[in-house]
Amino acid sequence: MRMSGNTMLITGGTSGIGLGLASRFHAEGNTVIIAGRRQQLLASITAEHPGMDSVSLDMADPTSIGDAIAGVFATHPDLDVVINNAGIMLPEELTDPRHLDVAEQTVITNLLGPIRLLTHVVPLLVAQPTATIINVSSGLAFVPLPLTPTYCATKAAIHSYTQSLRVQLADTGCPGPGTHPAGGADRPDGSGCPRSGDAAAGVPDRGDGPAAGQPRHRGDLRAGRVADAQR
Ligand SMILES: NC(=O)c1ccc[n+]([C@@H]2O[C@H](COP(=O)([O-])OP(=O)(O)OC[C@H]3O[C@@H](n4cnc5c(N)ncnc54)[C@H](OP(=O)(O)O)[C@@H]3O)[C@@H](O)[C@H]2O)c1
Repeated sequence: MRMSGNTMLITGGTSGIGLGLASRFHAEGNTVIIAGRRQQLLASITAEHPGMDSVSLDMADPTSIGDAIAGVFATHPDLDVVINNAGIMLPEELTDPRHLDVAEQTVITNLLGPIRLLTHVVPLLVAQPTATIINVSSGLAFVPLPLTPTYCATKAAIHSYTQSLRVQLADTGCPGPGTHPAGGADRPDGSGCPRSGDAAAGVPDRGDGPAAGQPRHRGDLRAGRVADAQR
């Protein structure tokens, strides 16, 4: 992915990693649109970063997701990077049935939210000359923290989903550089760009895919990339 000249939507852009990414990418010469629920923060962050835009988004609300994506594409038809970063991490006591509320909210926000968002975004991104999707996972996808079981499960799920997404969207050759803004690589073992012909980063090439030069699926992101950011 090029580091400047993109038009990028960053969910969870009001704090933490998302805000860090937004500030840095803005400084590097990208058009950045931050998304989140806290209107006051959206306003103050964009005021501090002239040229940065914002959109109100609740990842737990399907209508909000649809409205936000439609609005962003209406004002930024050249959107070519989407970073699915918004997420919640809450403790759960599994012997207490009340944990179910947290579990449901976590799945809705961390897993269903990005899936819903991608459902709106992918058909639009495939029309761009190049595009990149980054889904923020976690090292806890691979070594769970028992205090946050559903959080870890959603991060494992988004990693798995990203692998499938990458295969479905892969063009021929290397689908992406493998690095990501949260530090590390898009393979659990930290290795980088897969060789040309790999089905996807982290997915071994079983040799039964399309021949080199052939599209692997109907809706490939042309020259696009799908990355799964882990920490
Ligand atoms: N921090 C870490 O060490 C770490 C490690 C591994 C992975 N991660 C992942 O990195 C991502 C960011 O983490 P962080 O530590 O930077 O988190 P953070 O500081 O708590 O920020 C979370 C962001 O997500 C947004 N968000 C939460 N629920 C939302 C909802 N329902 N709709 C829309 N936006 C929502 C928040 O915005 P609003 O409140 O304004 O909506 C906020 O901007 C998460 O996916 C997290 O799982 C973090």
